[in-house]
Amino acid sequence: MIYDIVFEPTPMLHERSADVDPKEINSREMQKFIKDMVETMYIKDGVGLAAIQVGRPIQLCVITKNYNPLGKDDLCLINPVWTKLSITKEWDEEGCLSVPGVYGKIKRYKKIRVSALDKKGKKLEFIAEDFFARIVQHECDHLGGHLYIEKATDFRHVDKEAVKVKVNSKYPRV
Ligand code: NI
Repeated sequence: MIYDIVFEPTPMLHERSADVDPKEINSREMQKFIKDMVETMYIKDGVGLAAIQVGRPIQLCVITKNYNPLGKDDLCLINPVWTKLSITKEWDEEGCLSVPGVYGKIKRYKKIRVSALDKKGKKLEFIAEDFFARIVQHECDHLGGHLYIEKATDFRHVDKEAVKVKVNSKYPRV
């Protein structure tokens, strides 16, 4: 099932998502939801997607395998938390499926330590760097009720149709 994306402005996008009860992760319903999240991420041409962006405010996000150095599969992070491992932040451009037609520059930590549960409820601990670390920080912001546009600068407006045909794939949306 493909979900519709929740666009800004929507009050829900600015609220913190609720923690997932680990006991629910292996339910048939949650497993189907995770599968549908991944499918939606690909159809909408995103590289990451938070559950709140499809209207379900729970601490869950998915990240495409193309940006996942940990393995060959798409990554699902449940109840994720991260801590910085680098002192300084780096600028780069980001886009967001919930804010179509615009990209902006935002500072993110280059290296972070992440702890979460995976799609089967198993504990995950890993270090993320560079663009992968950027995606995790962007998705965790969503789960905390924050959009990158709150902190970004140098906004660049792009043709919505151009985005659809992946002309701007250098700067994937998350
Ligand atoms: Ni986003």
